[in-house]
Formats: sequence, structure tokens, C-alpha cells
Amino acid sequence: MPARLVVLVSGAGTNLQALLDATADEAYGATVVAVGADRDGIEGLARAERAGVPTFVHRVKDHPDRAAWDLALADSVAEHEPDLVISAGFMKLVGPDFLARFEGRFLNTHPALSPSFPGMHGPADALAYGVKVTGCTLFVVDDGVDTGPIVAQAAVEVRDDDDVDTLHERIKVAERALLVDTVGRIAREGFTIEDRRVRIGHE
Ligand code: GAR
Repeated sequence: MPARLVVLVSGAGTNLQALLDATADEAYGATVVAVGADRDGIEGLARAERAGVPTFVHRVKDHPDRAAWDLALADSVAEHEPDLVISAGFMKLVGPDFLARFEGRFLNTHPALSPSFPGMHGPADALAYGVKVTGCTLFVVDDGVDTGPIVAQAAVEVRDDDDVDTLHERIKVAERALLVDTVGRIAREGFTIEDRRVRIGHE
């Protein structure tokens, strides 16, 4: 049975698209069973719909408080019985209920080389700091901001003429490849987390 992926998005969804494209091949070992979002009208949801994948949306403002939103999001994800939940450009931090339910199987892709530049502005922060190499990080989500155990990373050169957009676009090329490759290997081979060390294929 292919591994069941629920993907969470907030925007363009190019990382989601890379997963959708990869899962078209049965040998990949995983399938996207649902896509969730925190807002309507985004290209990420349209990509899911075009692929015939069910979607759900929970906007924070439609719930009495953040905890209720978190619970509703977790319930919708759980309905699809995921083996892995993947935050791919999902611009919200989830709360304790969500983390407890999907502990150890909730991954996030971040556009910087952790532990540098956590948060919402990874490419801009790397550019402002003046680093010459940045990249992307796939990690297991914990209760910090981009602090969880690292599953995979890829380095990306910062060029003298980069602005935030050109740098982020180059990071995203590396990010999509890393996400597809790593999620596929996890789906086919499993993974273990021991303290902070993640190993694929050691189950
Ligand atoms: C990706 O670069 C992802 O790492 C980033 O948003 C982009 C989404 O692109 N996420 C964060 O910055 C979260 N802190 P996409 O919608 O085209 O996949």
C-alpha cells in the first residue's frame, strides 16, 4: 500500500505540485490523499482540485479561538488517515493538539539551512545577513519554530545579484527536489528518530 500523505498549503503550492507529479508513478510509494489550507482561493488548492485530490480549508477567523482552529484542522487531517502530514508552504504554526496527534509524522519544509534563519522570512533573513550559502531544510515538526529534528537539507549558493525573489526561487528548485526525493525514500523505507538524529531506512 502506498504511504498516505496529507499536504498543508497556504499559497502557490509548487512543492505540493512536485509531490502530486511524483505520486503519479506507482513506484514512488506514496499518494496524496488530501490537501488542507488555512485560506481560500489559493493556487495550492486549485492544484489539488485539478489532480482530483480532496481539499479542506480551516481559516483561523472562522473558529472561536486558535485552539478550536487547531482541533478542527487536526480532525480534518485525521479523517484522511495519513501516514505522513507535510507542511509545504503552510504559513501557520499548529498547536499542541495537532502536534500530539501527528507526533513524529508531521514534516515541514523550510527555505533556509536550519538552525539558521527560522521563521517566515528565511530567504530575506539569509540575504540580509550576507551568508554566501543558504538552502532548504526538511524537518520533523516539534513545538518550536523550525527547530525539529532535521531529515534532509540541500545547500544553495547566494549570488551577488540576488534579491529575495531570485534567491527564494532558486531555493525552491532545490526544495522541491529534496522534498520529493526524501518523502519517497521515507515512504518506501521508513525512518527512525533517535534524539535529534533522523535516519531513513532504519526501521
Ligand atoms: C516554500 O519555499 C516553503 O519552504 C516556504 O514557503 C514556500 C512555499 O512555496 N515556507 C515557509 O517559509 C514556512 N516557514 P510553494 O507554495 O510554492 O510550495
